[in-house]
Amino acid sequence: MKKNKIPKMLINDFKKIFKKRSKQLHTPIFKGNEIKYLKECIESSYVSYVGKFVKKFEKRLCQYTKSNFSVAVNSGTAALHLILHYLNINEKNEVLLPSLTYVATANAVKYCNAEPNFVDIEKKTLGVCPIKLEKYLKKICIFKNGKTINKHTGKELKALIVVHLYGFPAQVVKLKKICKKYNLLMIEDAAEALGSFYKKKHLGTWGDFGILSFNGNKIITTGGGGAILAKKKYQEKYFRHISTHSKLNIKNDHVHDQIGFNYRMTNLSAAVGCAQLENINEIIKSKRLNHKFYKKKLEKNNYCSILEEPKNSRINYWLITAVFKSLKKKQNFISDMNKVGLGLRNLWRPLHSLKIYNRCQSDNLDNSNEIFDKALNLPSSPFLFKNFNEN
Ligand SMILES: Cc1ncc(COP(=O)(O)O)c(C=O)c1O
Repeated sequence: MKKNKIPKMLINDFKKIFKKRSKQLHTPIFKGNEIKYLKECIESSYVSYVGKFVKKFEKRLCQYTKSNFSVAVNSGTAALHLILHYLNINEKNEVLLPSLTYVATANAVKYCNAEPNFVDIEKKTLGVCPIKLEKYLKKICIFKNGKTINKHTGKELKALIVVHLYGFPAQVVKLKKICKKYNLLMIEDAAEALGSFYKKKHLGTWGDFGILSFNGNKIITTGGGGAILAKKKYQEKYFRHISTHSKLNIKNDHVHDQIGFNYRMTNLSAAVGCAQLENINEIIKSKRLNHKFYKKKLEKNNYCSILEEPKNSRINYWLITAVFKSLKKKQNFISDMNKVGLGLRNLWRPLHSLKIYNRCQSDNLDNSNEIFDKALNLPSSPFLFKNFNEN
């Protein structure tokens, strides 16, 4: 076998296996009470954000994640934006975040006129590398009047957004310690991590705030949607209020006490969310089968490694991630699997490589660049190897 070539047998094997299975990267599954709940919603005429399913969905999210409070909104991006808005992040601030994330993480910072400052990941968890982060902060920070200032820009560093990429847990305990030392708030972007736990604690509940996404491509979907995970009752109250145009509850009148947002989740979306959440354990079981399959097929040929949940964690395996020995090997795999028609996808493009973000402050981002070059997401739909009709 030539050094970079995939064995023909494997291609034929994949052709056979994927003949009758979803070749797409991720297709949602609707096998539960979705239609029943939607029908209830429509018949009740409560289709907008007033209605029983929004509250029900929030309650169930709290039960599942053990978050103190959750507020359902219409996207994960909106959830991030509202948290940063609440923290009064503004043009005088910088927010630290990994470059290897979906663009929405940085966009939310920009919506508040603040500047992203990109930090690197570690290759094992794909989360912010605590060692590099601490070195970077030591290099760039000075403390002045109780504030953490970037000495190169003069801006105050306010928060670190920790992203749990593809459901993998970043090193939340170490990162939290560093945040405390440098007086930074820790916000967890757990958009991709519903169903992922570290030390039996759900991701998104470790930091000061967390967010989830229920976009169509996520582990469960509400069409489009997101949620804020918060610790305090007054925060929950604030987020509910500001996400509904800050409208006061005054009979027969329209009074708004601050500039609000139209970010609340609709009852229709929440109805789908409630039904989806009822099946999350089955969906995650099926994701674990996907992981087992790729591990067996691809690792035995020493072709690539399939990322695995770190110690002390139980993850959702939202998208299975393969890391190849070299860019060349990855490219060969893509061209061979194109013959099978597989929906392969590069990881999120590191944001510092996008024109819109290439002037931002950043640490050295070697790991992000390397992982982007060598890694790939494989088709990971929930019903690849599990028949949901069997239940
Ligand atoms: C890491 C990450 N952050 C934020 C978001 C934004 O979520 P949404 O698409 O619900 O706005 C996404 C998802 O798409 C994401 O993957």
